[in-house]
Amino acid sequence: MNDDLLQQSLDSLRHATSEDELAGWYRDVLGRKGTLSEAMRTLGSLTPDERRERGRQLNEVKTQLEAAFTARQDEVRAAALDARLGAESVDVTLPGRRHPVGNLHPITAMIREACDIFAHLGFQTVEGPEVEYALYSFDMLNIPQDHPARDVWDTIFINSNEKEITLRPHTSPMQIRTMLKQDPPVRVVVPGRTYRYEAQDATHEWHFHQIEGLAVDRHITMADLRGTLAEFARQIFGPERKVRFRCDYFPFVEPGVDMSIDCPFCKGKGCRTCKGSGWIEILGAGMVHPNVLRNVGYDPDVYSGWAFGMGVDRLVMLRYNVQDLRSFYANDLRFLAQFDRARM
Ligand code: FA5
Repeated sequence: MNDDLLQQSLDSLRHATSEDELAGWYRDVLGRKGTLSEAMRTLGSLTPDERRERGRQLNEVKTQLEAAFTARQDEVRAAALDARLGAESVDVTLPGRRHPVGNLHPITAMIREACDIFAHLGFQTVEGPEVEYALYSFDMLNIPQDHPARDVWDTIFINSNEKEITLRPHTSPMQIRTMLKQDPPVRVVVPGRTYRYEAQDATHEWHFHQIEGLAVDRHITMADLRGTLAEFARQIFGPERKVRFRCDYFPFVEPGVDMSIDCPFCKGKGCRTCKGSGWIEILGAGMVHPNVLRNVGYDPDVYSGWAFGMGVDRLVMLRYNVQDLRSFYANDLRFLAQFDRARM
């Protein structure tokens, strides 16, 4: 009888595979109304000797069953933990999730790269105000009031009646500010935003960016200008791109030139972006006009210099074959993210 009780209980314990089943088994076997307690209750009907013997046997069975229960409980808990770890395990070979990281706007990146190239050629980078006196934007640059050349820079005036304060239409006023502040030799580049009241198209925006360059010293020549700009173009566009210099007119230089790069979209054949010419103009330049040198107190018989003003937006366009520079300001991240240097 004891053996039966022990054996049957151990068998059913082996089938318990969860905490719930274990609790059920304990209740049915070792609980207050379980089979063992029931067996204990029969002791009262036995003789004292039989009771002693049977009581001892039942206590032994109880001890064995409790030990078996604890052992089985450990097994069930260990198996449950194993199953959980298996289900929740981390695959360390999976690639990590990339967090989105911003990148520099292509125009900002180009300004930094360009200033870096000029720094290696001996130019210091300086910056100036975007809201600028007409005195510096025009007058001191040899463009007096009522001079027809003012119309070339479709200027946005802050005070439209007096026309004294402009949103600078070019970075050239910084030529004046720089020369007023220091004596020659001067070698500076000036990156910055510029604004014009102008119709927009693929190569024109109403606000855009320029980098002004200015070098003034004794014996500075046009050949220095050409060499500096050709070297800059070579570093930005590579040696295979063509550079063209032509005569141009700007009141603050004499002689004046402009520089163009062969159109990357039609390879010089002529297309919509280059307006059929095969070239895209990127800058105006020339030898600083003696009147400008005089205006800032430099003696034009002793010093000579050259200056240039280049369109940064067009540099980026030409470098990366962007057909319409208005894309730079549309704030479409799918477009802007393509200029992530880490991926280029
Ligand atoms: C000037 O602004 C002169 N200040 C440049 C200069 C400086 C000449 C020093 C001589 C000495 P221009 O208006 O051509 O020149 O503009 C210079 C460059 O700015 C152009 O070649 C072009 O690349 C860029 N640019 C001009 N207008 C726009 C525009 N609306 N949108 C985008 N880029 C422009």
